[in-house]
Amino acid sequence: MADLDDIRDGDNFGHNTPADTSKFYLKGIANQSWGIKNRMSRIFNKQSGRTVMLAFDHGFLMGPTSGLERIDLNIAPLAEEADCLMGCRGMIRSSIPPENSKPLCLRTDTGTTILTEMNDNVLISEEDAIRLNVSCMAAMLAVGDADTEAITIRNFSKLVDIGQKYDIPVMGVTAVGKAMARDARYFGLASRVCAENGASIVKTYYTEGFENVVAACPVPIVIAGGKKLPELDALDLCYKAINCGASGVDMGRNVFQSEKPLAMMKAVKGVVHDGLSPAEGFQMYNDL
Ligand code: 5RP
Repeated sequence: MADLDDIRDGDNFGHNTPADTSKFYLKGIANQSWGIKNRMSRIFNKQSGRTVMLAFDHGFLMGPTSGLERIDLNIAPLAEEADCLMGCRGMIRSSIPPENSKPLCLRTDTGTTILTEMNDNVLISEEDAIRLNVSCMAAMLAVGDADTEAITIRNFSKLVDIGQKYDIPVMGVTAVGKAMARDARYFGLASRVCAENGASIVKTYYTEGFENVVAACPVPIVIAGGKKLPELDALDLCYKAINCGASGVDMGRNVFQSEKPLAMMKAVKGVVHDGLSPAEGFQMYNDL
């Protein structure tokens, strides 16, 4: 057991000293292999250094939730606007055309559903990820959850071993249990645990004080959108996260549950890549 006495909160995040990206345009990736860098470059735009990923992996836990009833009708038509598609293998194979040229981030862990305790979690085989030609593999870490923390961190470490073997970046997805405070202290800890365990990308949630979460995470952070918000609020969330140093979004419900998902995708891209303000992004959404 580590000595847990006197664990002090960090207070020196070096906000005036940006991470060195002179050797590779994404922070924390310069010392990775050619294959990892090549796949990361498929996901992150070279000009902005950011990404707009479209997440549609919710069904493996929740079934056909609103906006994801028909992946072939709801998601496939948005693919061209996304920088990367994040989903599960069954939905990718059945509903995303193989001609798709966008990089895939494969949800690589699975387990129980919302109908039970969600207390088990396994990895799918790496051969299947390779067959699907994925650019990234994602698995969740339930940091702080007594029943699942150990299982999910063990899975994640195994996935990073696999990713390093085949040069496939791994994204750590921070899962927040109901008991966890959704604050910068918690997300800072959970994101750092992902990075310490070898994540090349960390997916977490925006919160007040997010600049510290980003500063203490040495690899790119993307935010989940969370529950559906009015479009302007969702664009504001993207804007604030980017302003705090996030490298993009991996958004689901705020896109596919929007009344106009394609217009919302384009507006989110405007904010993430082109520096639009939330109001300008919302104008774009309305115009489209
Ligand atoms: C949950 C996930 C989801 O993909 C994530 O929550 C993104 O979706 P949303 O923007 O709807 O929150 O990884 O494990």
